[in-house]
Amino acid sequence: MNVLVIGSGGREHALAWKISQSPRCSGLFIAPGNAGTLLVGTNVSIDTQNHKEVINFCKEKDIGLVVIGPDDFLASGIVDSLHSAGILAFGPTKSAAKLEWSKAFSKDFMNRHGIPTALSATFSTFNEALAYSKTQALPMVIKADGLALGKGVVIAQTHEEAEKTLSSFMVDEVFGESGKTVVFEEFLEGPEISIHAFCDGTVAKLFPVARDHKRAGDGNTGANTGGMGAIAPVLVSAEFLKEVEEKIVAPVMKGMAVEGAPFVGILYPGLMVTKAGIRVIEFNARFGDPEAQSYMRLLDSDLLDIMLDCVEGKLAGREIHWNTGYACTVIIASGGYPGKYTSGFPIKGLSAIADSSAVVFYAGTEKEGEEVVTAGGRVLGVSALGVTPEEAKTNAYTTVKSLQFDGMQYRSDIGANWGI
Ligand SMILES: Nc1ncnc2c1ncn2[C@@H]1O[C@H](COP(=O)(O)OP(=O)(O)O)[C@@H](O)[C@H]1O
Ligand SMILES: [Mg+2]
Repeated sequence: MNVLVIGSGGREHALAWKISQSPRCSGLFIAPGNAGTLLVGTNVSIDTQNHKEVINFCKEKDIGLVVIGPDDFLASGIVDSLHSAGILAFGPTKSAAKLEWSKAFSKDFMNRHGIPTALSATFSTFNEALAYSKTQALPMVIKADGLALGKGVVIAQTHEEAEKTLSSFMVDEVFGESGKTVVFEEFLEGPEISIHAFCDGTVAKLFPVARDHKRAGDGNTGANTGGMGAIAPVLVSAEFLKEVEEKIVAPVMKGMAVEGAPFVGILYPGLMVTKAGIRVIEFNARFGDPEAQSYMRLLDSDLLDIMLDCVEGKLAGREIHWNTGYACTVIIASGGYPGKYTSGFPIKGLSAIADSSAVVFYAGTEKEGEEVVTAGGRVLGVSALGVTPEEAKTNAYTTVKSLQFDGMQYRSDIGANWGI
């Protein structure tokens, strides 16, 4: 079967790497891909925003499954377009992906179905939002309703900051339509974890728990990024997993089906473990990046088999096997990221990976002649395995230290804490 993966990040390299190992995969295309996806498939430069162009490509190349990486493609309804054209696609429809692309919808949904989440209030007019903000305690969590490239959440420490945030979201419309509606949430505290589940519309099967590291600096300091590292499995009890399954994942599957938008693809709830219990911070409707990079190292089963079962509603009969070890992924970013950075620096050390347990997944990279050069904020993900958490961490950093480009930055504490 020929497969098309849509996206260009480390996540898509990891997914393509894993799919390429499937005996059922005869041809693998990535649109647009990056310098790393070139190592496992063929990059194609179609306009992925244009559904018609994607459909035509799929017909021309006889694509049996399209795998969609990023959230904005799912929000654009690409899965619906592909299905209408008779092409199988792994990912939720536009109405199912609404769990991610509208935080207002997802809060309402959780409240309708008794799923534990922060108390919230939603507003679509500036004056009402501002008046409400003045009655709220600090710090105050303000979220743009729609997709905002991970920049749509502000934890305001003062009422002035809250007003400034509301004004930039709702009046200046810095995120366009996405910020015209805002969600206020009570401020929660506790460790954060990432849950992922394969979903076929009815059945969901949980992955091991993962943890992303959003902040740029060691000890979770500095600015928010797309994610600077991911570990899995985070060590949780069987009771904890059972609670996540029963109180969160199962009610989502049931609720979405009842509401006419059965969820197919990857359901990825972000959770906070507070003193009062588990709370859903948000739902994502696709793989996390960098989580996907650790997960693809740990997944022993055939990813293509599982994805096809999800699309065909046959997940119940599929056994999914995970490596019993640990995966640690360290992201290497351009100097200055997530702020301003410069690209085009040659990357050294890629041809001989220092540790045999490590795989380097490429993100913002380009091929320039025979050289791979930097071409984005997050550049590489070094994903290593270990029999113990400590070994996974050591193996990852051995390889990180063998790679080199001008200005490279990475956190040195990914894998320092595997608990909650
Ligand atoms: N209610 C909350 N209380 C405390 N921190 C929060 C709350 N909601 C979100 N956050 C913090 O903000 C981050 C981003 O929020 P999230 O809803 O995941 O938005 P997105 O990932 O779409 O930017 C979270 O990972 C968490 O650290
Ligand atoms: Mg988030």
